[in-house]
Amino acid sequence: MVNQTRNAPPFDLTEYRKALGGFATGVCVVTTQSEDGGMGITVNSFTSVSLDPPLVLWCLDDKSDRHDLFAATERFAIHVLPVEDREMSDRFAWGTCRLSPEEFDSSNPEPPRLRNALLRLDCTAHDRVRMGDHLVIVGAVQAVESRAGDALTYFRGRYGVAPEPAA
Ligand SMILES: Cc1cc2nc3c(=O)[nH]c(=O)nc-3n(C[C@H](O)[C@H](O)[C@H](O)COP(=O)(O)O)c2cc1C
Repeated sequence: MVNQTRNAPPFDLTEYRKALGGFATGVCVVTTQSEDGGMGITVNSFTSVSLDPPLVLWCLDDKSDRHDLFAATERFAIHVLPVEDREMSDRFAWGTCRLSPEEFDSSNPEPPRLRNALLRLDCTAHDRVRMGDHLVIVGAVQAVESRAGDALTYFRGRYGVAPEPAA
């Protein structure tokens, strides 16, 4: 087990957080069903863990109002956003996090599938590991769908674009 020290690190945490923004990422929305309908959360902590078996992870802040819902869910979908879905990223970060029924493919309500993603991974919860102030959620991938398109990126607190490479 990793020894999690509670000693203050020898650097400024605000500067550290800012420095971490130097890692350019894509932007994802994770969705799940709740008693109140489909819910989403914007994350950029997504990464692939294992190809065989196919496992992925993302990290959930324990300060999020949506923590308890996503920490407990057994089925979720990870959507990699295209550049045109920047408003969707803002909305699932700071705005309305509930999906209206017409926003997802009702033929498969669980986990809710957003229609425009570059990549969608339907997952079942494989493991959950508390690490400091985040919960690492590992998903076993049950279904995959992907398409070509320009990706939304996040770098130093700003959105950008990673163009689809020319064939
Ligand atoms: C680009 C971007 C990436 C984010 N990545 C994560 C993440 O990986 N994990 C996480 O818990 N929150 C992440 N957030 C923050 C959440 O989307 C959300 O704002 C936060 O959980 C607060 O939600 P609350 O209003 O439910 O408390 C990210 C936000 C943005 C804009």
